[in-house]
Amino acid sequence: MEVVQNGKNAAELLQAQAHVWNHALNFINSMSLKCAIQLGIPDIIHSHGKPMTLSQLIVALPINKSKNHCIYRLMRILIHSGLFSQQNISESDPEKGYVITEASKLLLKDNPFSVTPLLLAIFDPILTKPWHHMSDWFQSADPTPFVTAHGMTFWDYAGHEPKVNQFFNDAMASDTRLVMSVVIDMYKGVFEGLESLVDVGGGTGTAAKAIAKAYPHLDCTVFDLPHVVSGLQGKEQNLKYVGGDMFQAIPSADTILLKWILHDWKDEECVEILKKCKDAITTTGKVIIIEMVMENEKGDNDQSTETQLSFDLLMMVLTTGRERNEKEWANLIFTAGFRDYKISPILGLRSLIEIFP
Ligand SMILES: C[S@@+](CC[C@H](N)C(=O)[O-])C[C@H]1O[C@@H](n2cnc3c(N)ncnc32)[C@H](O)[C@@H]1O
Repeated sequence: MEVVQNGKNAAELLQAQAHVWNHALNFINSMSLKCAIQLGIPDIIHSHGKPMTLSQLIVALPINKSKNHCIYRLMRILIHSGLFSQQNISESDPEKGYVITEASKLLLKDNPFSVTPLLLAIFDPILTKPWHHMSDWFQSADPTPFVTAHGMTFWDYAGHEPKVNQFFNDAMASDTRLVMSVVIDMYKGVFEGLESLVDVGGGTGTAAKAIAKAYPHLDCTVFDLPHVVSGLQGKEQNLKYVGGDMFQAIPSADTILLKWILHDWKDEECVEILKKCKDAITTTGKVIIIEMVMENEKGDNDQSTETQLSFDLLMMVLTTGRERNEKEWANLIFTAGFRDYKISPILGLRSLIEIFP
């Protein structure tokens, strides 16, 4: 063990300690964000309409008076994380007030692209518990840390526990609203000329509803597990729901959409799903995949790399899946018997991948 002999060694040692501490304390950022969402802080500051002072915020918050003096500490770390910022209350008054940022706009209840449902799912103790079992899982034969923690797969858990089914479907729907609005706005051509589409693992139908509305001549089907689609009916004429298991058979169509499906499954399972998709489409049809392509994100930077690496581990902990790079995608696509593919990196960290039989 190296002994601290001079100032340089001491500085390095203390820097290393801060580095490790930050890693250990990272969960505090997540939990502070969870608390802010649960207390409604983003909406309260936003609806104030101008910079909101600490005392105004405290009055507006549904908290016990004895905690009033702790709010500035919560706000301080959230400002440090870029979730809120501070501005002068007015040109003449140098007192500062809290305002929302581009990031916290995405937490507002009336924002159609709110990410709050996805965040609340990620923070739920049922989904965080498996992280405490990662090392046990590495040393066991269990398929996922989720199984180690809960004794069943995530999909079985959601099938048995309506609360999980509900928050997970809401989480997926919130993400899909944002993604589909970008796809339909910026990449219209991808659905043009199609007659029928099946959204496999389409959840409660957010993507299919958006497509059915934008393309009234396109027949859309949401295909998902029976517990997800039971009781759902399309309001649009060209939208219907079908319950089933994609490992058994997939309804036929021109085109199949797979959004955030294949990253839930290991390679062998993905090849099975893709082969079922190939059986379901015509020879002139295609499969549209919306997923991350690792190491291919637009505007490569440390933050995007960290997001992709985190999603990869999220998939490892909750499901048998993973995030993949282009070579790994190509391998799946060709192993399943498809002839060609085209990757369009149009969705920030995610891409639209068209694959052709
Ligand atoms: C990560 S979610 C994605 C949902 C939706 N595509 C989206 O992005 O909003 C995965 C979906 O696959 C569905 N799923 C899981 N196993 C399935 C199976 N064997 N057959 C059909 N759907 C399945 C789940 O119920 C869930 O809705």
